[in-house]
Amino acid sequence: MSVVVRGTGRYLPERQITNADLEKWVDTNDEWIRTRTGIHTRHMLAPDQATSDMATEAGRRALDDAGLRAEDLDLIVVSTLTPDMLTPSASNLVQANLCKGRGIPSFDLNAACSGFIYGLQVVSSLIESGSYRRALLVGAESLTRFVDYEDRSVCVLFGDGAGAVVLESSDSPGGIRGIRLGSAGVHAELICLPGGGSRRPPSIEVLEARDHYLKMQGNKVFKLAVQSMEQVARDTLGDVGWSIDDLDLVLAHQANRRILDAVRSRLEVPDAKMPLNVDRMGNTSAASIPVLLDECLGEGRIRSGDKLMLVAFGAGLTWGCCALEWA
Ligand code: UT7
Repeated sequence: MSVVVRGTGRYLPERQITNADLEKWVDTNDEWIRTRTGIHTRHMLAPDQATSDMATEAGRRALDDAGLRAEDLDLIVVSTLTPDMLTPSASNLVQANLCKGRGIPSFDLNAACSGFIYGLQVVSSLIESGSYRRALLVGAESLTRFVDYEDRSVCVLFGDGAGAVVLESSDSPGGIRGIRLGSAGVHAELICLPGGGSRRPPSIEVLEARDHYLKMQGNKVFKLAVQSMEQVARDTLGDVGWSIDDLDLVLAHQANRRILDAVRSRLEVPDAKMPLNVDRMGNTSAASIPVLLDECLGEGRIRSGDKLMLVAFGAGLTWGCCALEWA
């Protein structure tokens, strides 16, 4: 028995924020953003939208792609660090939207930008254990709501969106071959949203210090991101006995063009095998890999039997890698 991806879907909000838009809001410029990050534009959710709305739509599209209905699901998991509210979880709201009164379990998982890979391990293990047969896993984020449009080093990087996969048990060849996860909480302060939680609940002081916004020490994150992604990729390939040459496609978390270039060159992955959409999306955290996967499938870049490597890095710090043979 293996766990396979039966369908995929993505939702990106209509509104796009270009570098020219950002130039009007903060002291930055298109040239700096393009050369340092590779980002040209990113999506921003509408004022009346929240993470669960995007996750629901991506989920619906993944179900359509799989030829299934919500009634066919046993479990819903949403990977996000930007839920609609602290409780209930975004997945509970997605479950209400998709399943109406049906009581299947749903929960959120927060591993920041590595959330989709963490979700793959949790959900595939639950399916392998026999507890569930079919699950919807969504990576969804609305980071434009949590970045400070007075902090030019962070606000230019992030975008909103959602990507979803339907995972199920299968007897056919292919599926998830191996997953490695890791974390380094000792570096928690490098990417951190300090206010609004139990340590510093919402208050005038938190708002005045702008601590309800994401803070990041980009330089330090950059180096650790490259090192961790390279290492976890090598370890995962070692686990499953694949070489870089065996891979048909590497889907890496779209954090920043320079990080992706560095990882690609260290691993010696040919350009053509490592698709990028960071120029159009920015960093969409847990949504980035499932959005990219859905795009690649839409472009006919993935065929049955292809060997894929999904690799991510994010706040926590966290990292993860999945070796997946397309069924
Ligand atoms: O999923 C993981 C999430 N995190 C990341 O992906 C972030 C990883 N880090 C990075 O991508 C890069 O560190 C950044 C893109 C965030 C920054 O690039 P950098 O080459 O590390 O720049 P820096 O922070 O060293 O800043 C260089 C200069 C500074 O000016 P001074 O001190 O040299 O005068 C910054 O103030 O660039 C300035 N700067 C900007 N200038 C124009 C910072 N942000 C901007 C901006 N526009 N948006």
